[in-house]
Amino acid sequence: MKLLVINIGILAGIDRQGLLCRKGAEMAQFETLENAYLLCENGKFLDFGPMDQLPMCDDATIFDAQGGAVLPSFCDSHTHIVYAGSREQEFVDKINGLSYAEIARRGGGILNSADRLHELSEDELYEQAMTRVREVMWKGTGAIEIKSGYGLNTADELKMLRVIRRIKQTAPLKVMANFLGAHAVGREYAGRQAEYVDLVVNEMIPAVAKEGLADFVDVFCDEGFFTPEETARILKAGLEHGMRGKIHGQELADSGGVKVAVEHNALSVDHLESMTDADIEMMRDSNTTPTALPGTSFFLNMPFAPARKMIQAGLPMAIASDYNPGSTPSGDMKFAVSLACIKMRLQPAEALNAATINGAAAMGLSKDYGSIAPGKVANFFVSQPIPSIDFIPYAYTTPIIRHIFLKGQQIARE
Ligand code: NIG
Ligand code: FE
Repeated sequence: MKLLVINIGILAGIDRQGLLCRKGAEMAQFETLENAYLLCENGKFLDFGPMDQLPMCDDATIFDAQGGAVLPSFCDSHTHIVYAGSREQEFVDKINGLSYAEIARRGGGILNSADRLHELSEDELYEQAMTRVREVMWKGTGAIEIKSGYGLNTADELKMLRVIRRIKQTAPLKVMANFLGAHAVGREYAGRQAEYVDLVVNEMIPAVAKEGLADFVDVFCDEGFFTPEETARILKAGLEHGMRGKIHGQELADSGGVKVAVEHNALSVDHLESMTDADIEMMRDSNTTPTALPGTSFFLNMPFAPARKMIQAGLPMAIASDYNPGSTPSGDMKFAVSLACIKMRLQPAEALNAATINGAAAMGLSKDYGSIAPGKVANFFVSQPIPSIDFIPYAYTTPIIRHIFLKGQQIARE
């Protein structure tokens, strides 16, 4: 089963070594080859090269890219794409002057989504989520992490995670599941946060592990949500059950999220809008990928994470969408790339690395995803002809993607 893509105007995000991440100054290299071919076999990349060295391949299916660019699919390492309904009323509340934290304190926000999710059946939840999964697939995402965290009691958290498992089994893109029971204190535990943390540690994590429902464990470690001490307990319990941490940290305040993430060898620490220079220092030599969520800063009108400082410090920064109904109702990774350039002053090449190889690293997937490298899974998209890769973030609302391929198979538009 061979696939030969010919007449590629720009083949981008190529790598012969099988990169695991790009750090600091290396992030400015997003290697390209003009007028190229790409050969895939059995769902993996096999080879690439210039069109004038096109190999003889009688047994391959030919796809003519007609001068379009080919890029590795986006790796979106942070989403909450399984949710019920929408929260545009809170959007209007924000326009009228309420902050995200105020809305949460009044019982809106995450608890609002938990109430709605409680009412929906697993089937309905799956259908709603799959509509969004198809949407982001067509926006170029080929690997995605999906969190629970709108259940906030054991039964509803398990319901969400079973929906995520079903997406894993049925959607053609790569899915990683993250248990985020500590997203907020469930309504039944209002005013009893310590008991809720006990429930997460003693009941939810073992139940999730027993069914093998999650790859990771997450905590919203921030002012008004969970403390670093509570986060540490949950991370430890997660690790004991084979789930590595991926933390929400330092979005709303300088609240110790980075420190607890690094100390517990979390795979990533995400948000970072309130990150300090000391946090950046702490992340050097750690195995934790700092992940900025520029769509969240944009939608909530908040500061952006200090991306240039992270890159200067040599860190392998990732960007992700944070697709969720409250703070970021968008999973458009191309737009996240544009925002990273426009608002965080990343070069287009840096932003594309952040959204591909470093996003894959933030999900522990970069051995197999995130670049066009021989042996990696053949997840890629074909764009309209573009003058250079800089055009991708520059044309910030142009839908440039024409065709998508996942595991070397072209996906038909429904
Ligand atoms: O990553 N910050 C915490 N959680 C989500 C928002 C969830 C919601 O508002 O529903 C986030 O932004
Ligand atoms: Fe989030």
